[in-house]
Amino acid sequence: MRELHARLGAGSALRRDPARVLGRPGREDAVALRVPRPSLAAVHELRTVVAVQRVLRYPVPRPKALLGDALRRQLAGDLAAAVADATAVTGAGFTALRLEAAGRDSDVMRRLAAALAEGVGLPVDDDDGDLVVRARPEADGWVLLVRTTPRPLATRPWRVCDRPGGLNASLAAALGWLASPPAGVRAANPFAGSGTLAIELALADRRARVAGFDLDPEAVACARRNAAAAGVADRVEVEVGDAVGWRQGDASLDLVLADPPWGDAVGSRRGNRALYPTFLAEAARCLRPGGRLAWVTHEIELTRGLLAGPGPWRVVHDRRVWHGGHHPWVLVLERRAPRD
Ligand SMILES: C[S@@+](CC[C@H](N)C(=O)[O-])C[C@H]1O[C@@H](n2cnc3c(N)ncnc32)[C@H](O)[C@@H]1O
Repeated sequence: MRELHARLGAGSALRRDPARVLGRPGREDAVALRVPRPSLAAVHELRTVVAVQRVLRYPVPRPKALLGDALRRQLAGDLAAAVADATAVTGAGFTALRLEAAGRDSDVMRRLAAALAEGVGLPVDDDDGDLVVRARPEADGWVLLVRTTPRPLATRPWRVCDRPGGLNASLAAALGWLASPPAGVRAANPFAGSGTLAIELALADRRARVAGFDLDPEAVACARRNAAAAGVADRVEVEVGDAVGWRQGDASLDLVLADPPWGDAVGSRRGNRALYPTFLAEAARCLRPGGRLAWVTHEIELTRGLLAGPGPWRVVHDRRVWHGGHHPWVLVLERRAPRD
């Protein structure tokens, strides 16, 4: 919401619909907003948003009711209008429709997919359809969520190379917002991988300088290619380097951004028990007092233990987020002055 308010204005342009928190049960990472037409393009430029979906609601008890003549026509019209708006705003076209719903292979859902596809003159493609429509029940009816772009907004055009454990680019951008560094920030990104955090920071702040490093030369080559594709290679320098001993001088940085290995796709839980304390000690050494460490990890217990008791950090933000099948922890820590 922070980026939304900063870019679009808190009150006038957008209105949050407090009764309507979408997303999956138990998750509050999707919010419903009323977006006036002139703000639609700006909404699609938000960098912390994973995807924009148009919400179509129908007060029917069962999806079968959507297939009756009148509703079916209304549905097709609503979807066609949503697609026309989306295409006008982003310029991107769709090639096929994909319906995502519980029981997608049932007769009713198959007929629903066919009716929707017919309404927009597209074929149905269950695997590669880029007009993604999610159908799900609500307390008082059924809702269709129509993704307004062929790819999620989190899929960045700069990503010409990927690595195992690559961070979602929208989450990377959100970390930058949460840390709220000064303009022209001097930052480091240990465990750079494909460079997601470094590149998103450099795109958000045109004067930022980021030193990325990673133990793996292939990751470094990948991050460099991505940085070049993003047009930030002059400000994002990625080198082979070990997060156990940084090249950066004492108190030389305003910000450290990191997603150290979580011990599943990359690294091991055992290795992390040695890696994490060293990483935190190096971040504390290299940050100036008041500088911040913004990081995301799925090593919850290990991290909790490392932050327990007095130490060099003040917790500024502390929240759990969703990332793929994980529920990692996002932390923004501020480096205390040595005698604080
Ligand atoms: C979770 S991945 C980072 C993903 C990255 N943010 C991205 O979006 O692609 C962790 C990275 O840490 C690197 N790594 C593991 N141990 C390291 C160490 N001791 N020093 C530096 N990098 C290390 C791995 O090579 C891997 O690229």
